[in-house]
Parts: sequence; C-alpha cells; structure tokens
Amino acid sequence: MAKINPGIIEVANERRIAASGQAGGAGKTQAMVNLAVELALRGYRVLVWDLDPQRSTSHIFGHQDPMPGQPTIFSVLCGENKLLEAVVPARYRIGEGDEDSAFRLIPGIDLVLGTPQMAEAEVTLGNDSSGVLWLDTVLDEQVPKGRWDVQLFDCGPTLGILLLSVALAVPEIIGCVNDEFKYVIGIQDLEATLAKGRRSRLKKFGFRAEMQHILATNIPISPTGEIDRSQGAVTDDVIEKINARADWQGKLLPIVRRSIRFKETIVRQKALRYHAPNNAALADIAAVADALGFPRLNSTRKKR
Ligand SMILES: Nc1ncnc2c1ncn2[C@@H]1O[C@H](COP(=O)(O)OP(=O)(O)O)[C@@H](O)[C@H]1O
Ligand SMILES: [Mg+2]
Repeated sequence: MAKINPGIIEVANERRIAASGQAGGAGKTQAMVNLAVELALRGYRVLVWDLDPQRSTSHIFGHQDPMPGQPTIFSVLCGENKLLEAVVPARYRIGEGDEDSAFRLIPGIDLVLGTPQMAEAEVTLGNDSSGVLWLDTVLDEQVPKGRWDVQLFDCGPTLGILLLSVALAVPEIIGCVNDEFKYVIGIQDLEATLAKGRRSRLKKFGFRAEMQHILATNIPISPTGEIDRSQGAVTDDVIEKINARADWQGKLLPIVRRSIRFKETIVRQKALRYHAPNNAALADIAAVADALGFPRLNSTRKKR
C-alpha cells in the first residue's frame, strides 16, 4: 500500500490469494466468499475465481449452473473462451425466479463462473505438457492491468495439477481447517504438495508457493469469547495442534466462529453479510481481512 495523496490510499500491488486444503468441507468457499464481500466493502475491487467443480461460490454469488455453451472457468482453462467472457458480476438473491430482477448486484465483486465440468480439469491439464502453466498465462495475458485490486481463488479439494497450476500463479495460499481433525491432515498434505512443487521441475518457472496462512472456521465460541469445549472437544484439539507446531502457530489467522447461518447461504444465494447482516461471525471475517493486511480504502479514492 502506498499513500499517493493525503487521505487517499491507493492499492500499490494487486494481491492474489488462494484457499486450499486436501479435505472437502474445509471452509474454503465460505472464506473466499465472505472475505470478498468484506474487501469490497472496504473499497477493493475483487475478482473471485470459482475453480471447484462443486461451484458453491458461484451459487452463493447468485449464479446457477451455466447454460450449455456459456463461457466458464473450464472453457477458459481449455482455451475456448477468453477470461473476460466468463466473468459475471457477483450478486445476491432478493426474490424468486431466475430473472435478473430477482438479484441485486454486489458492488466491487466479479466472479469467474464455476462449472461442474471442472471435475475434468485434472485430466485436461494432465494431457497437456504445459498444462500447469494455464493459469499463469491467463493471468498474464487476459487480466487487464489495474482492473481488480484483489483476486481470490476458491480451489477444489484436490492436490493435483490444478492446485499446482494455482500455486504457481498464486503463491499466497490459505490452508483451511474446519472443526474436525481430518482438516489438519488436509493442510499437512497441502504443505507436502507445495514443498514437492518447490523441489520439482516447476522451480524453473519460479514456483515458490507456501501455505502462508491457516484459517480455522466453524469454531464454537462461548458467550465469554472462549472456544466452547462443550460443543466439540475436537475443535479445541484442532487449534491446539496448530498452536503446538512452531511453524504453524504464526500462520493462524483470527478464527471464524461457528454460526448456523453460514450453511443457509448456498440455498439462499446470499453471502452472510446480506443474509444475516448482524451476525457476530462477520466481525471475525473483518479480523481476518485486517490480519491479511487490507486496510479500508478511503472513499475519496480515485475511480479508474
Ligand atoms: N464458521 C462457520 N460456521 C458454521 N458452518 C460453517 C462455517 N464455515 C463453514 N461452514 C460450513 O462448513 C461446510 C464447509 O464449508 P465450505 O466453505 O463449503 O467448505 P469447502 O469449500 O472447503 O468445501 C459448509 O456447510 C459451510 O456452510
Ligand atoms: Mg467449496
């Protein structure tokens, strides 16, 4: 960040952050969706990439499954469409039906539309000798400079070539853990995969990705603000396990408390901020944004 005028903070460097983790259900989608909303409210222009065949990010951001022939992340990956053809505005549902009038746009957030076809991405990229470079190339050649301040990447629960292609282009990775021990194993596997990538032939392409942060979500918090062990000792064990490792302790972001309202956001097609505007977990997401180093941008910031 650099101050260019008194009171005006400009975004000096575009940030790219990916959420990953070997186990499905780790909280990646909720992390990326709700962080995107928080950052947009702070004045950042955000592009969210929905790379997961489960496409929950697209659903929460108001987009049903794509129609046949509609450009998506997969047709971009295959080189059949340009990135900007697969970018749609993020929105949330305010009424019934599929008409545009049933949705309200979320200022500042765009979405690279997800698709179930991303289940084929591993095979498609694996059959292409330069497959691991696809995202790096798209980012380099097809993202207009200065159009977005932050790009967030919601990965699927796999650690294959798709993840490596993301990690090559997006070295800042958040390992996500939900309230079960299997997610700790999941981030161990993520770290091992990235370490292998750093030693592999990808080194010559500048592969340097690391799990830089850990986000623990779905943590039961008591009214006094402590982790509520009565609601699940496992959660406590997850946090203890992370804190017990010297190399992980400093990576742990502020925890996101458990709230049943998160689960409603997919079917309601409303990110938490719009679904439950007074939810206490929104403060946790704001704390994560602070910890990641995203100050609020001044509202007088120059429009480009
Ligand atoms: N803080 C939270 N409180 C309650 N449920 C949560 C929380 N964070 C995530 N969840 C729920 O956990 C499940 C997995 O989260 P999700 O973000 O979809 O994970 P992933 O994208 O890694 O598969 C979902 O049902 C989601 O609603
Ligand atoms: Mg997901």
